[in-house]
Amino acid sequence: MSTLFEPYKLKDVYLRNRIAIPPMCQYAAVDGLINDWHRVHLAGLARGGAGLVIVEATAVSPEGRITPGCTGIWSDEQAQAFAPVVASIKAAGAVPGIQIAHAGRKASSNRPWEGDNHIAAEDPRGWQTIAPSAIAFGAHLPRVPEAMTLQDIARVCEDFVAAAKRARDAGFEWLELHFAHGYLGQSFFSRHSNQRNDAYGGSLDNRSRFLLETLAAVRDVWPEHLPLTARFGVVEYDGRDDETLAESIELAKNFKREGLDMLSVSLGFSTPTAEIPWAPAFLTRIAERVRREAQLPVASAWGIDTPELANRCIENGQLDLVMVGRAHLADPHWPYSAARKLGIDRASWTLPAPYAHWLERYTVS
Ligand SMILES: Cc1cc2nc3c(=O)[nH]c(=O)nc-3n(C[C@H](O)[C@H](O)[C@H](O)COP(=O)(O)O)c2cc1C
Repeated sequence: MSTLFEPYKLKDVYLRNRIAIPPMCQYAAVDGLINDWHRVHLAGLARGGAGLVIVEATAVSPEGRITPGCTGIWSDEQAQAFAPVVASIKAAGAVPGIQIAHAGRKASSNRPWEGDNHIAAEDPRGWQTIAPSAIAFGAHLPRVPEAMTLQDIARVCEDFVAAAKRARDAGFEWLELHFAHGYLGQSFFSRHSNQRNDAYGGSLDNRSRFLLETLAAVRDVWPEHLPLTARFGVVEYDGRDDETLAESIELAKNFKREGLDMLSVSLGFSTPTAEIPWAPAFLTRIAERVRREAQLPVASAWGIDTPELANRCIENGQLDLVMVGRAHLADPHWPYSAARKLGIDRASWTLPAPYAHWLERYTVS
């Protein structure tokens, strides 16, 4: 039986515990370039004690950004700007990861606190979106994307490969492909967004093709000894969940065959009419099923924000890693607080000396 504060090894990478910080967009970049906000934010999170820190959805091309403030890795300048971030995450004892992404038909949006909706068509801050089919998401995202040609598909796959190489050269040790949340990868898989009648639409094999081809191409350039993972929405909560989950598990098996090392089990977000049964840790039972049936290590998130719950997800074998997102925004030292609360032996958790020296003598009331 494993516990939250036991180390975890995947490929040649060791995490000091099973706590991972999932990618969280900051919407603070300019032309995809990171700045002091990201540097301080990410170093601070790493110092809090998690085993893994994954940098936010970072676009493989300008049109793949969700908002104009999203980070990018389509240029060498952008990639080099990550090198000091990588160094500070490692110096704090965490493993530096990055999620590379293309937002598809959900791109060209306003920041969440500026409406979370598509930028108006006449607004020069926006851009033409692309997707498997010319079908809008709807609701607050009404912009109709351009259906991708076969050349577009090949280009985006190459963009993922180029981004992976840049991430590798910047020193990242963990790569996550963003195939979830209704963005481009998910939208090839989902019947809500893919109505193509060529080799990239229709059957399960065809709807899986873009994801599997991209994974295989990235695996070729991403070092074999480093973990390559993907985030994917295995359910939509759209009334067809048994079928979607069965297809997702087939996809997960195929991911494994193509060299995926871990799946971050998440939600599809492919339709605005989904009825998601929000509750603490509601997705972990599904993640456990994927883990068991696809025989693939899994991570998951969504409301696993108390130390007891996080520990239980590891102890009962549902998850290999627990992703703790918003709770880290509330308390960047969440792992430290969790260790104290769970009564974890001092030798099993870390805090930088300038903090630890004082806090070891300090009793939190
Ligand atoms: C501010 C913010 C930004 C997010 N950005 C991303 C992202 O870049 N990529 C992604 O896959 N998920 C993103 N998410 C989802 C989180 O990774 C995570 O799944 C979600 O917050 C649920 O976990 P939690 O309940 O521990 O917060 C974001 C969530 C938040 C709150």
